[in-house]
Amino acid sequence: MSDFEKTGSISLTRYLIEEQRADRISADLRLLIEVVARACKSISVSVGKGALGGVLGDAGSGNIQGEAQKKLDVIANDVLLEANAWGGHLAACASEEMDHCQPIPDVYPRGNYLLLFDPLDGSSNIDVNVSVGTIFSVLRCPEGVTHPEDAHFLQAGTTQVAAGYCIYGPSTMLVLSIGHGTHAFTLDREMGSFVLTQRSMTVPAATKEFAINMSNQRHWEAPMQDYVRDLLAGETGPRGKNFNMRWIASMVADVHRILTRGGIFIYPWDKKDPTKVGKLRLMYEANPMSYLIEQAGGAATNGRTRILDLAPTELHQRVPVFLGSREEVAKATEYHLAHDAKAKTAA
Ligand code: AHG
Ligand code: MN
Ligand code: MN
Repeated sequence: MSDFEKTGSISLTRYLIEEQRADRISADLRLLIEVVARACKSISVSVGKGALGGVLGDAGSGNIQGEAQKKLDVIANDVLLEANAWGGHLAACASEEMDHCQPIPDVYPRGNYLLLFDPLDGSSNIDVNVSVGTIFSVLRCPEGVTHPEDAHFLQAGTTQVAAGYCIYGPSTMLVLSIGHGTHAFTLDREMGSFVLTQRSMTVPAATKEFAINMSNQRHWEAPMQDYVRDLLAGETGPRGKNFNMRWIASMVADVHRILTRGGIFIYPWDKKDPTKVGKLRLMYEANPMSYLIEQAGGAATNGRTRILDLAPTELHQRVPVFLGSREEVAKATEYHLAHDAKAKTAA
């Protein structure tokens, strides 16, 4: 039985007001989350229109990371910027789709929070009608800073005060943490409100399912090769069990499955482009997702170190990601650390 069936309808608004009363969030943070949720509803409408809304296909532009932008990447980015400009709760926004952070325009009051987002995650899936999403992370603006710059966003993931994603799938869901568990809200499309449908999501500690883009296998480093070889060996191999594989190529959808039934999601470093330390972005993808996963009892590392402990050096920094069921993440991390220790002894 879902929490919705057990407790009846608790809207996102009511959940946030109760959290504020319990002194777990400020009024400004509550407003910020409400505004992000409202922007996500609007993005959900655009995504849902598909070809009828003229939103599919390329925008004909590129982002700072050299990736071609889809029309929906640009639309979602604009919706989030516009929605968050005037509320007075934010000091600045940073986005995967913008070169630098964007302070709140001088005509509006500035608040004390910084918002980071991947406006449309899984863009390659837009044109094929597969789930995509929006990922966001909230930090505090450092004290005394009135004109935030990129450097003010470079805070470790442990300092996030909230993180979440909205998945645009068969249903639209908002998954949120303000540091007290990870909770899921489903959009009631007729009423236009998010309703709490799963309180305190829990990632099972162990799993028999992994998610990785296997086409990059030949480019991986040795410990990754060893780890996946042992997964594929199944019950007669060193792991003694058979593993299943899934790869949606929308991080939101893969992480949502893992939050729901467990698993490990991996986007490792590979030698395809040695200048890139992995594909996923620390500030817009890895940190918020790691926060949600840890708040649900899972774990997240870059293969060696806890992701939330990494000290960011660049706004658009990339990072290898291993996240999900904590025993499996520990196992994958162990392969890397053992390999490093052996290499050190040999040197
Ligand atoms: P984005 O669409 O925001 O650029 O992110 C896409 C990411 C992530 O969602 C997904 O897990 C991964 O890229 C898929 O990468 P491959 O196409 O290399 O499998
Ligand atoms: Mn993304
Ligand atoms: Mn994106």
